[in-house]
Amino acid sequence: MVKRFHSALASKMQAKQFVSLAILAAAAALTASSAAWAASKPAAAQPQYAGYDKPYSEADVPAGPLGDSIKHGYFIVTQTKKALPNNVGNAMYCTACHQDNGQKPFAAPFVGLPAIFPQFNKRDGKIITLQDRINGCFKRSMNGKALDTAGQDMTDIVAYMNFLSRGVPLGTELNGRGFVVVSKPAQPEDAARGKLVYEAKCSMCHAADGQGMKAGDNYIFPPLWGANSYNDGAGMAQVDKAVRFIKHNMPKNAPDSLTEQEAWDVAKYIDSQPRPHFEKEKQQ
Ligand code: HEC
Ligand code: HEC
Repeated sequence: MVKRFHSALASKMQAKQFVSLAILAAAAALTASSAAWAASKPAAAQPQYAGYDKPYSEADVPAGPLGDSIKHGYFIVTQTKKALPNNVGNAMYCTACHQDNGQKPFAAPFVGLPAIFPQFNKRDGKIITLQDRINGCFKRSMNGKALDTAGQDMTDIVAYMNFLSRGVPLGTELNGRGFVVVSKPAQPEDAARGKLVYEAKCSMCHAADGQGMKAGDNYIFPPLWGANSYNDGAGMAQVDKAVRFIKHNMPKNAPDSLTEQEAWDVAKYIDSQPRPHFEKEKQQ
């Protein structure tokens, strides 16, 4: 009798235990399947940027030769022309486009890039290194000359990008890479309409003639066209890329305030203005 009671209790407890084990197992299965689901989503859709966007501060840079390299990399990307006058053929600086020292999500951030290069590049039709990709911007966005990929300056730029990317697991593509997606406009983009957008919402900073504004030697508002701007081989010179930068990042004092139509029109206007020509032969 006692024994039976015990065994009844035991089996009741076992049943209870079974139920909670079953709940645990179900929860584990759910977790496993949602992990599998997450893994099957495009990497860019995962919310992984948070925590890697601490504003660059010299105080966080390690002391010693590696720290000196990182700090020089920072100097190059923020004051490119001053740092490398022979490699820059206009007045641009990397962070004119790669905003907030290369740390702003959806302004083609540098954060996380060392974790995903080398990778396939459509424009080149082959696997390229991070150094090759940086040189792509030197030749086109900076209308200049490629750096020696094994030289100290290139190493310093990469050291800076590595520093910004500390903690990002190898192979992880962060959400916030590149630019936002902007769908096709209701009406085809139009430069004449874009000029009106430009005059109302851009010219107060980039100037009526698109030449930007300087304080002493340094631009506070970079030029958008003309001899000091990116060349016609640059990503920004393609309307469908420029619109993706502009929609989310400009006007700088009111980002995301343009309608999609306004963003397309103003991108078309800017990119129909004169700018240096990219000569492929000269570069290779
Ligand atoms: C005029 C704007 C502009 C300037 C200036 C510029 N870039 Fe870029 N950069 C871009 C655009 C636009 C892209 C993305 C192009 C694309 O999607 O094909 C890009 C892409 C990149 C990438 C690859 C990003 C990725 O997610 O794969 C790197 C690395 C890069 N730039 C480095 C630099 C460096 C270093 C400098 C300065 C020497 C620089 N860029 C100057 C506009 C610019
Ligand atoms: C309040 C000032 C301000 C306004 C208004 C403004 N910009 Fe900018 N823009 C900047 C600054 C400053 C940068 C450099 C990046 C940075 O510091 O964030 C920049 C960078 C850019 C760049 C990339 C660098 C280059 O020179 O090509 C483009 C393109 C651009 N702006 C387009 C526009 C367009 C289009 C508008 C209007 C819809 C606009 N901006 C309005 C301040 C402004």
